[in-house]
Amino acid sequence: MMQLGKITVAGPLMLAPIAGFTDSPYRRIALRHGAGLAVTELVSAEGIVRMNRKTAELLRFHEEERPIAIQIFGNRPEVMADAAAVVEGLGPDLIDINMGCPARRICNAGSGAALLLEPKKMFAIASAITARVRLPVTAKIRIGWDHENLTYRDAVKALEEAGVACIFVHGRTRAQQYGGAADWDVIREIVGRASVPVVGNGDITTHGEALDRMEQSGCRAVMIGRGALGNPWIFSGEAPAIAEVVALVKEHLDLMIEFCGERGIILMRKHFVRYIHAFPGARTLRKELVTAATREEIHRILDSIV
Ligand SMILES: Cc1cc2nc3c(=O)[nH]c(=O)nc-3n(C[C@H](O)[C@H](O)[C@H](O)COP(=O)(O)O)c2cc1C
Repeated sequence: MMQLGKITVAGPLMLAPIAGFTDSPYRRIALRHGAGLAVTELVSAEGIVRMNRKTAELLRFHEEERPIAIQIFGNRPEVMADAAAVVEGLGPDLIDINMGCPARRICNAGSGAALLLEPKKMFAIASAITARVRLPVTAKIRIGWDHENLTYRDAVKALEEAGVACIFVHGRTRAQQYGGAADWDVIREIVGRASVPVVGNGDITTHGEALDRMEQSGCRAVMIGRGALGNPWIFSGEAPAIAEVVALVKEHLDLMIEFCGERGIILMRKHFVRYIHAFPGARTLRKELVTAATREEIHRILDSIV
């Protein structure tokens, strides 16, 4: 276990939230492979306050996922604080505020990355939450709205003043979406100016790169998103043989079925593609796996590989 300011984490390489992928089953897999922290997909604060079934499912986590952060998004400080209080009652280790989602639907409502244009609102939201809960509160930001509005200096200041315990920084602007490159020079600058721990994020594709990024930026921890999909070994640095990948796909499938019943078979399809993309005959395999309808059929296809 490692301390990141007030926060205890299991190691310096963390699983970044990826909506649609980093659900409870995948978070368990990542933690089993050495991820230092897992973060839920973004969950709407308005949804949490109303608590429908879909929201409850997004908030569910397993004890094995600790340390776990639940990430919330929204725009109204009082609703965000109410949601944070509900979330605290569920017993996670941290509450994270999404201040970086570039999706139009989220930004048009003044949430996610739109907050980067409003440091006062960032402060109002973060301070309303830190005043309401006892758990450490973190925020995940981008470096600005676009290159004309690189607001990270004001953003970091606002968040620190509001009492957040750690800041996760994805080194892109909102305008970049997921294109171009994450700016690790800016991340290094933020590490130098922030009084709270900063966790860098963006474009890490191997274990070695993660360690290099930490060294170059001065971050004591980094977060990995897309590079961890289909490759939880990125956290441990191991290079799995094909048989180990196949065994893990079966393990993941069973966790999926345990978590969401038969629907887990459908939800696994996007993961299959990530796990097997570098296998010989991947195209054919992929077609077979994404049309298989039962656990037995999937096992038969997987067993034909090894
Ligand atoms: C499909 C997709 C969904 C994402 N969902 C979230 C999310 O729910 N919350 C969040 O803070 N970031 C989300 N992100 C951003 C990632 O956490 C991360 O910041 C970004 O992908 C850059 O890191 P990477 O290059 O390691 O993937 C998402 C990214 C992608 C590609």
